[in-house]
Amino acid sequence: MDNYQELIMQAKLAMEQAYAPYSRFRVGAALLGASGRIYRGCNIENAAYSPTICAERTAVVKAVSEGERQFKALAVVAETEEVITPCGVCRQVLAEFFDDQVVILLANAGGQVRKTNLSELLPGAFTGDKYGL
Ligand code: THU
Repeated sequence: MDNYQELIMQAKLAMEQAYAPYSRFRVGAALLGASGRIYRGCNIENAAYSPTICAERTAVVKAVSEGERQFKALAVVAETEEVITPCGVCRQVLAEFFDDQVVILLANAGGQVRKTNLSELLPGAFTGDKYGL
C-alpha cells in the first residue's frame, strides 16, 4: 500500500493546481504509468462550463500525449466528505486504456480511500475491442 499512499499524495498535490473558480470543487488525480512515471492532473474549468475538463481526464491526456498507454494505478482525491467517484465521461475515458488490473484509488483529503477497478465503476463498458472498432 506504500506506493498507493505516494500516489494519493501526488493526487493531493495535483488538487492544489485545480482551476475551479466556478464550482470551487477541487479535484486532483495521479496516474501511474507502466514506465513508472506519474502523471498528475487537476480539473480545469471554463466560463462556458461545458469545456471543463476533469482531473482524471487531464491526467490521461497528459500521459497518452507523452507516449504512455499502459497503466498500473490511478488515484483521485477531492475535499469531499465521502471519497470522490469519477463522472461518467471520465469512466468511459478510463475504459479506453484500463483493464481490471489497474488499481483505482478513490480518496478524500481526510484520508479515506476506496480501492476499486474499472468494471466495478463501469460495468459493461463500451470498448473498441468488443465491437471490432
Ligand atoms: N470533477 C472532476 O475533476 N473529477 C470528478 O471525478 C468529478 C468532477 C470536476 C469537474 C468540475 O470542475 C468540478 O469537479 C465540479 O463538477
